[in-house]
Amino acid sequence: MNTQPPTDATAWNALAALAEGWRGDALKRALATDATRADRLAAQGPGLHYTFARQRLDAAVRDQLVQLALARDLPAWRSALLAGEAINVTEGRPAWHTALRAGASAPPEVQSAQSQMRRLAERLRDGAWLGATGQPIERIVHLGTGGSDLGPRLVVDALAESASARLRVDFAANVDPLDLDRRLRDADPARTLFVVVSKTFTTQETMANAQAAKTWLAQGLRADASLAPHFVAVSANVQAARAFGAGEVLPMWDWVGGRYSIWSAVGFSAMAAIGADAFGEFLAGARDMDLHFADAPLERNVPVLLALLGIWNVNFLGAATQAVLPYATPLRLLPAYLQQLEMESNGKRVDRAGRSVAYATAPVVWGAEGTVGQHSFHQLLHQGTQIVPVDFIVFDEAPGDPARRRILAAHAEAQAEALARGQDDPALPAYRRTPGSRPSSTLRFERLDARNLGRLIALYEHKVFTQGVIWNINSFDQWGVELGKQLAKALLERARDRS
Ligand code: F6P
Repeated sequence: MNTQPPTDATAWNALAALAEGWRGDALKRALATDATRADRLAAQGPGLHYTFARQRLDAAVRDQLVQLALARDLPAWRSALLAGEAINVTEGRPAWHTALRAGASAPPEVQSAQSQMRRLAERLRDGAWLGATGQPIERIVHLGTGGSDLGPRLVVDALAESASARLRVDFAANVDPLDLDRRLRDADPARTLFVVVSKTFTTQETMANAQAAKTWLAQGLRADASLAPHFVAVSANVQAARAFGAGEVLPMWDWVGGRYSIWSAVGFSAMAAIGADAFGEFLAGARDMDLHFADAPLERNVPVLLALLGIWNVNFLGAATQAVLPYATPLRLLPAYLQQLEMESNGKRVDRAGRSVAYATAPVVWGAEGTVGQHSFHQLLHQGTQIVPVDFIVFDEAPGDPARRRILAAHAEAQAEALARGQDDPALPAYRRTPGSRPSSTLRFERLDARNLGRLIALYEHKVFTQGVIWNINSFDQWGVELGKQLAKALLERARDRS
């Protein structure tokens, strides 16, 4: 498989030449003169329509981007990913999150963990899980950070309308004591279950919060009460999780990366909130996207196109950031989720061969729910000096008052139009003019449900993977976060020695 720098590819140089034609006003002119763009610069994925007619490109650029993907051996890399080959070379293991949503084809240990999850989640939802004093559990406090937090937090928030009314699920990720303290302020120890999620079971912040949870329970329950029924642990370090004293331990495996782990038992709190059937739909949605990624021709493959447009914007048109704007309150946590997925995966400066890269890799990913951001940072999107490519995410159907839904939809469309076409009537004073030609794509789903949420998250996972292949980097390690951890540990040890 190709591990040469992408800049060696003929297509890279061809794209650099094509980019010259897409600076300045080119997008605006293309939109004004070519009525067929919307039909030609679009693709269908499972449950979604993707349009990129408002990006600064045409079919010739798209085709050259596909040539670049072929020159980078994307099909072979994709097969290696999906077959569970050890493509995470610095850690010598696969990144096999797709196996977690493979249904009946999933490895036996995955299917057995899923049955265990289902059994425990149903007990909780039925009120049959009793705490040490015989009271039913009514609140879950999920403790974890990074990939052990962001996924379940997103799913629970996104699907809150269909969540269990009798089971409240809260999250604490920060070691700032106020995070957990605030979650516990009105909680009853007798009815509270902590779900401690840590792949390594060594992450300092999570371990400190888990110890604090023990202390809180011990103070709130009878002195002789066992704390075990108040803890579920999820970890690849099953031994440490058992030693911690959790009543139930759900396994995961070292071949599941933290930021790709929502599909594993890391999603247990989410399953308890939305139910095993809805969680099954969530996995099935991801599976739909896996099959599309595996089979659709590259020029109609939505995750591949999303990745290639990102490459085009970053490497050829100079974008330093990428905004994600879901026009849906339930997806307000998506930007934070994607920050870890994209920036921890592809925020890399050396390639697979250990060479410093001479081209940009992951942009800064940011965003917020529409319409809220319109009254905040959209000013910069329309008139700032930086060009920020945007992914709009919209849903045709959603619950709630149809009149306000129509307003929401009109604003999403208006923002994309205003960015692309601008308003530069010379009769207007300069401060009122908006230049336009600002790029965006729109991902349109029929509705926000568990299946489409699974599809959406898997879509971005495959986007990130594809970009890693183009950039020739390992998307599945995160060595850059280690130094800070070591320094904090050393500082704490020094402070302890002094006291
Ligand atoms: O510090 C980064 C990181 O390792 C992430 O990659 C991971 O998702 C997070 O910490 C939590 O790790 P763990 O699940 O082992 O507690």
